[in-house]
Amino acid sequence: MSGVGDPTLADALRAAVGDRHVLLDADLRAPYEIDWTRRFGAPARAVVRPGSTAEVAAVLRACGAHRVAVVPQGGNTGLVGGGVPRGGEVVVSLTRMRDVGEVGALGQVEVAAGATLTALQARAAAAGLDAGLDFAARDSATIGGIVACDAGGTRALRHGTARARVVGLEAVLADGSIVRRMGGLAKDNAGLNLPALLIGSEGTLAVVTRVVWKLVPRLPARVAALVPLPDAASAVSLFAALIAEAPSLEACELMGDAGMELVLAHLRRERPVPRAPVYVLAELAARRDPTDELAAAFARAGIEDAAIADDTTSRERLWTLREGHTEAISARGVPHKLDVGVPLAALPGFLERLPDVVAGACPGAHTIVFGHLGDGNLHVNVLGPEPADEAADDAVLELVLACGGAISAEHGLGVAKARWLTAARGADEVAAMRRIKAALDAGGMLNPGVILG
Ligand code: MLT
Ligand code: ZN
Repeated sequence: MSGVGDPTLADALRAAVGDRHVLLDADLRAPYEIDWTRRFGAPARAVVRPGSTAEVAAVLRACGAHRVAVVPQGGNTGLVGGGVPRGGEVVVSLTRMRDVGEVGALGQVEVAAGATLTALQARAAAAGLDAGLDFAARDSATIGGIVACDAGGTRALRHGTARARVVGLEAVLADGSIVRRMGGLAKDNAGLNLPALLIGSEGTLAVVTRVVWKLVPRLPARVAALVPLPDAASAVSLFAALIAEAPSLEACELMGDAGMELVLAHLRRERPVPRAPVYVLAELAARRDPTDELAAAFARAGIEDAAIADDTTSRERLWTLREGHTEAISARGVPHKLDVGVPLAALPGFLERLPDVVAGACPGAHTIVFGHLGDGNLHVNVLGPEPADEAADDAVLELVLACGGAISAEHGLGVAKARWLTAARGADEVAAMRRIKAALDAGGMLNPGVILG
């Protein structure tokens, strides 16, 4: 498909956002049409870049009048194909709407959808506070996308997912109407909680345009530890010891040998601890030095060998090994990324069975696992299968459900896992979701194919 197709739609979009912000040329559209993994994407009819909530509403009304579907897009860091076109939609990029307001006395800040996580973190730090959410794609990922996917990241263990930070939300519905609850009230139960419904709806019910974000205290005394372990069961035991002994626990991440070796090679780094089948990276944060808590947890779990980092530079060096996974994996090919949740009790068994399950579905595939141990949130990455070959994806998701897990933990279903929704949620729950979708977006205009297939 080239160009907008329907000149009257192009005129309507130009009237909505101005000529400069309607991109019809294939070269200009291209970066918005392919996702970060390079696995998902297709040509868009047009890319529009509204500069305000009113402009987003005007774009949705124009697209509705022309019966053209819309794909909302933030920083395009999604990993499940939910923010790129499936073919012929109008991409609504929110990246021009990036203002971050002043931090109020209650530690709340109003943020536009296109502001990056880094921008929010910087504003929080300037006020002596912390955003309470973090992950490696912070420089590109935008608040609108983060909220639309209910992103989690490495600090969700302590501060919850995006949902826990949002105390106000403004969004544009498919018909161009605007819902706004920006009072920042901790308690407001007047009527159905539409913001709660829209958070995590992956752009299928509304386009999130602004939020009020609740910041958390800044905890300057931090210590991180990288611990080599013989197996996943030891990692779960270490996590249990941290929960018991370390109230300052902020992050507890898991890496496997395959991923660690890939990252070390990619970054040309030396291994800071002896080679092991499994590594845990834990971070504690408090007002005063939490090293005692770490020592108590290590004593409880019988840990003797670890790399400890108690200054910013050495902590960042440990975190690069964890955060470097996504890029190191993508440098080796187009990964099949399966973000899943597994109950901690079932996690060692899941990891034990995983290699055989993937090999059975896709002989010769290479599996790399890392993730947020404390949340039971694993990122299973499979290299080898063609982008359209879903055999390994299906095998992994089947195993997840057999273990009582979740087929998506923090990335969303996107288009990648939509066909697994009924297996995960059951027919009645999916039927209820469809009724909600039909009530808010009768024409199926918003992000078709995502979540509900
Ligand atoms: C992470 O935890 O690093 C992100 O979810 C990205 C990924 O899964 O690759
Ligand atoms: Zn993650």
